[in-house]
Amino acid sequence: MVRKSALTVLSLGLLAAASPAAVPNVGSGTLQLAPRVPTPGLIDDLLGGITTEIGLLIKDILNGLKSAQSDELSSKPLTCLLGLDPCCKWYDVSAALTDLFKGANGQCTDLARGAVRFGFHDAGAWSESSPNGGADGSLMMDFGEENRPENNGLQTIRTTLRSVQAKFGVGYADLAQFAHNHATVTCPRGPRIRTFVGRKDATKAAPEGLLPDVHSPADTLIKLFEDKSFTPHDLAALVGAHTSAKQRFVDTAQANKPMDTTPGVWDVEFYNETLHPPANGEIFVLPSDQVLSKHPRVEDEWKEFVGDQRHWNEDYAKAWVRMSLLGVGKSELGGLKECTRALPAAVPV
Ligand code: HEM
Repeated sequence: MVRKSALTVLSLGLLAAASPAAVPNVGSGTLQLAPRVPTPGLIDDLLGGITTEIGLLIKDILNGLKSAQSDELSSKPLTCLLGLDPCCKWYDVSAALTDLFKGANGQCTDLARGAVRFGFHDAGAWSESSPNGGADGSLMMDFGEENRPENNGLQTIRTTLRSVQAKFGVGYADLAQFAHNHATVTCPRGPRIRTFVGRKDATKAAPEGLLPDVHSPADTLIKLFEDKSFTPHDLAALVGAHTSAKQRFVDTAQANKPMDTTPGVWDVEFYNETLHPPANGEIFVLPSDQVLSKHPRVEDEWKEFVGDQRHWNEDYAKAWVRMSLLGVGKSELGGLKECTRALPAAVPV
């Protein structure tokens, strides 16, 4: 674990200091200097020609040249007294989320699993040809997306995150993704995913029909994710988030059943237990997970994740960095800031 001394962070912070006006929306929901300009198209293409340090880092992560996880950690730097660090508010948000996401038993809470799903339903409502949608905070904002049937069950975490937003004045789009990344690392064994801020908030609702249906055939699900630039391999990694999940609406007679035997821990039991559910019926296997786990384009990867936490965490983190940037415009991408250091430390078990 790399801990920076307050002095180092102070000097780095001063060197890298940017005026808030030059960093629209970083750390603030009120600093929207220009409306969001959504850019249809794949992030890999949008990154072409971007030469900022952050743009190059994101490129390297997406190309597998750099890890999508980081254990860089610091306490709130002294530069925050002068408001000079773009991550200042995120240290405060992080402390508030820890209270909500970490249970007394050290495992992650219902709100944490809600935040993981929320980050997906906000960012994932996007496709290559979408004029809007993606990681833009629209699900947290006042566009009525919370009333769509596919977002059933997300109302409580949405209300909770809206109060965090109101308290700290951060952007909706960034908060949805920061909360996802905070939740995964709060779950024991969860990845500490590189976390970027500086997205612009939505000006419209996301298009409908772009989130997966639990009863769809595997080919339909694979195509839906390919249209968002995820390979079947990425999809196998992403649905592993059901390691921390419970279902309430697929079968209301079995409401609150978890999708693996350890929903408070971000482990790989989900992969094995989807293939071989315990006979006592203690878990609920989603029809979509069942068909994906046996599909020829997914099954090899699925089996590779069984018993291999390190492999899954890295693949999940890499796919999530892509997810967390869907729909983010070319003009925003090069100016993002990394605030991973404001997340809590990972919890190995
Ligand atoms: C094929 C793709 C997917 C399908 C069909 C799907 C479907 C579902 C369904 C039906 C539920 C249960 C909702 C309820 O009844 O309460 C659920 C829960 C959940 N999903 Fe997914 N999902 C998919 C992918 C993902 C991805 C990519 C993520 C995150 C990366 C994710 C994270 C979660 C979480 C954390 C929960 C539990 C929420 C809670 O317990 O409150 N899912 N999903």
